[in-house]
Amino acid sequence: MQHLITTDDFSIEQINNILQDAARFKNNGNPPALLRDKLLFTLFFENSTRTRSSFEVAAKKLGAAVVHLDPSKSSTSKGETIEDTFANLGAMAPDGAIIRHASNEIPQTLADMNMAPIINAGAGNYAHPTQGLLDLFTLKEHFGSLEGKRIAIIGDIANSRVASSAISLLPRFGIEVSLVAPAPFMPVETKLAKYDNIEDVIDNVDVIMSLRAQLERHKTPIFEDYETYASHFCITSQILNSRDIIIMHPGPVMRNIDISDEVLNDARCKVLTQVNNGVFVRMAVLKMLLLDS
Ligand code: CP
Repeated sequence: MQHLITTDDFSIEQINNILQDAARFKNNGNPPALLRDKLLFTLFFENSTRTRSSFEVAAKKLGAAVVHLDPSKSSTSKGETIEDTFANLGAMAPDGAIIRHASNEIPQTLADMNMAPIINAGAGNYAHPTQGLLDLFTLKEHFGSLEGKRIAIIGDIANSRVASSAISLLPRFGIEVSLVAPAPFMPVETKLAKYDNIEDVIDNVDVIMSLRAQLERHKTPIFEDYETYASHFCITSQILNSRDIIIMHPGPVMRNIDISDEVLNDARCKVLTQVNNGVFVRMAVLKMLLLDS
């Protein structure tokens, strides 16, 4: 039984197959109902707009049935452990479960129960593997060859599972990653190049990945005033100028703190392309885990 907890669970060959399947799903339209006999559970213990709906759209496009368990109305609120909750869902013989949780460990804990393939839809600051894969797909779609491309990840890197997945995945495909953040947002243990202002990297990158401040993970407020933070780290038209750089962000975007209104409307901004690509990449991931493994 194969799970997707981090992108390291997939070999380069498997990831290339996912990228090819995703491109076919995107370009050919009307996919066959490859998963018409399959049943998926979605369990989102943290809020989501993009990931949950993207998985549900992807599953339904391939003909799978999707049952969503709302944790706030589930028996976990009566004291049932998440392991017991999952054992009971597992007894209904699903073909896979898609889970988001604030804990870094929960997706692996459920995977170790070996009741159904687990797909991590975001765990703490540990990993968000399908975001990493859709970001990789978006980069490959734009650039073709990725070898030697350079990306600067800017923002609350220390608390971001999106950054964690990008940092482990993108170098496997030849992309050089550097980090730009104020000290409280910079990971302590990293071998990557670190900067504390955008101007030091802007002329040496092909891509900027902006990240929001993960306020829900800050034990105490880190910055009282995000306008001051924005004056240094917001991606604006002035910073971009006419440079041939693309801008990515996993969402939700904090407008005019992460990225300015003007840049969000700029053709170089790929935010909604990432969301669009996410459906096709998740279709390919579901095919890989439920049919091909
Ligand atoms: N990119 C992302 O994980 O967005 P959501 O939190 O809306 O799912």
